[in-house]
Amino acid sequence: MDLAQQAIEILRANDRGGYTVPTATGLYPAQWNWDSCLVALGLAHFDEPRALTEIETLFAGQWADGMVPHILFHGDDSSYFPNASVWQAGPARRSSGITQPLVAATVVRHLFDRTADPAIRARLTALVPKLLAWHRWCYAARDPYGTGLVSVIHPWESGMDNSPVWDDALHAVEPGPSVTHLRKDIGFAAAGHRPTGLEYDRYINLVIKFRDNGYRADCLYDISPFRVADIGFNAILQRGNQDLRFLLTAIGDVGGASEVATMEQKTEAGIARCWHEEDGFFYGINTRTSVIIRKPGIAGLLPLFADAAVAARHPRLVQRLESWLARVAYGVPSFEPGRPEFEPRRYWRGPVWLIVNWMLVDGLRRSGRAGLAARVRRDSLALIERTGFAEYFNPLTGEPLGGSAFSWTAAIYLHLAAESQ
Ligand code: GLC
Repeated sequence: MDLAQQAIEILRANDRGGYTVPTATGLYPAQWNWDSCLVALGLAHFDEPRALTEIETLFAGQWADGMVPHILFHGDDSSYFPNASVWQAGPARRSSGITQPLVAATVVRHLFDRTADPAIRARLTALVPKLLAWHRWCYAARDPYGTGLVSVIHPWESGMDNSPVWDDALHAVEPGPSVTHLRKDIGFAAAGHRPTGLEYDRYINLVIKFRDNGYRADCLYDISPFRVADIGFNAILQRGNQDLRFLLTAIGDVGGASEVATMEQKTEAGIARCWHEEDGFFYGINTRTSVIIRKPGIAGLLPLFADAAVAARHPRLVQRLESWLARVAYGVPSFEPGRPEFEPRRYWRGPVWLIVNWMLVDGLRRSGRAGLAARVRRDSLALIERTGFAEYFNPLTGEPLGGSAFSWTAAIYLHLAAESQ
């Protein structure tokens, strides 16, 4: 069976009826927010209606205040910790109580651009007000004082759970009682490739703090001991803003489009403030302490995805990416190789994640850097050709890591492989 066929088989096998689990192994037995959006990119290559269903199911879990949770629990979630019974987000909400990167508008725009089917267009159009409500929520709840940078209040919201970028900010969080005995993930994947026990204790203590405060959008920003204006989260939001404004314009919502244009201006100025001239890199800011987090994680490259002008404005950023690629067998590592924090096998502390590669391929192409985009694409496809559809990969060796038969890896394969070069 060729690889595209294998990828399709994985997506079919991980389909739980209306949503796709990240992997069949039991590691993630629910619907994850940005996983579903990125899975839809791949599904669209062989089943457009099903791609839409994936996103519709996600938005069926949208909260009344506009938030789209990072996890929706639909079925038996007993193999996951923390599951719905730990989050206790409310009787009507079998979900987590935090969000994930707002990549949905970009995917919806992509589906909108590629479809010729009026029924699909109508379904996409129905999603647009929901996308707008989520973006509005994001600014209100995560940047209530209007700084132009939204903050994540839990490392899980960034999608890059244990990046070294969080280390100092996470130290401010009490670990609370150990939850190691409750963890299920280390039964499915090697503990050395996953977050540490202490990190997990802090993750859960944050959840309990949010739970005790009823997940109220109007207070979590102020009370969270962990609060970071992550550059990756803001860059993805900014790209989403552009795509959302396009969609609103396409459906004739002039007021909505101008509201989003204002969001874009704020975020553009916010991202510009994250450029560190001396280091030639974009960094996030710990908004609890106002300290700039001078750690070169892959999130610092994502302004290339947000804005096609960034590559020309900051050629040093592109050179930095090239220097990372020169030091690994397969790009793009999730943290700068050679740094003391770089761990090539541990989750977001070094391994390659194909979803981020796709964002860089897309951004580099839009920036006119076709050669570099082709290199990242080639590495991405080569990893899968060598070792299959793993959750993440060792950038030094190509070794597959984490869960196997992974949905978003399969989806990105279909998407990248189908694109003409
Ligand atoms: C991990 C990843 C996160 C992803 C989830 C499900 O928590 O860090 O980005 O959404 O797994 O695949």
